[in-house]
Amino acid sequence: MANGSRMAKEVTAIYPGSFDPVTNGHLDIMKRSSSIFDRVIVAVLLNLDKEPLFTLDERVQMLEEATRSWDNIEVDTFDGLLVNYAVKNRARVILRGIRAVTDYEFELQMALMNRTMQPDIETIFMMPSGDYSYLSSSLVKEVFSLGGSVNGLVPTIVETYLEGARERVRPSQSESPSG
Ligand code: PNS
Repeated sequence: MANGSRMAKEVTAIYPGSFDPVTNGHLDIMKRSSSIFDRVIVAVLLNLDKEPLFTLDERVQMLEEATRSWDNIEVDTFDGLLVNYAVKNRARVILRGIRAVTDYEFELQMALMNRTMQPDIETIFMMPSGDYSYLSSSLVKEVFSLGGSVNGLVPTIVETYLEGARERVRPSQSESPSG
């Protein structure tokens, strides 16, 4: 094939989640994805099934601060079907982090359902560093609410926001292992 005959296509990937709050495990995935894809949109879900600790604005502010150093990562919000949001933003890839086998079953269901609705959009699973394979937003909130240190598990900005929300952080908000 002659040089230049292959058109380079920009690939946009969407990294969706509730990010309540963002952890160093999420950031590890973002860092890895930023070196693979041309553009990464971190998409924060507006309507969560469970009451979030942080408002949408707070979750976005923490993410914007934590991702400031990566030029090709942007933070946005979405509501409704993720695949519709992906189409609207011309994204070909949905990124999801898989920490352990336990994550896989639900992630596979979501990926296949999303593929049924939008066959052209590919879900790509990425593994965070082994250092973060046990880490979740829920565990961060539980440890913090019970007086433990979350230093090194979340970006500094999240520690600050957690301190500010201390009265709101209750162990009952941390029951689910997911997220
Ligand atoms: O961080 P989370 O809570 O694990 O993220 C879950 C998320 C936001 C990726 C998922 O709930 C989602 O995509 N919600 C949007 C609604 C949707 O498209 N549902 C159908 C998924 S098959």
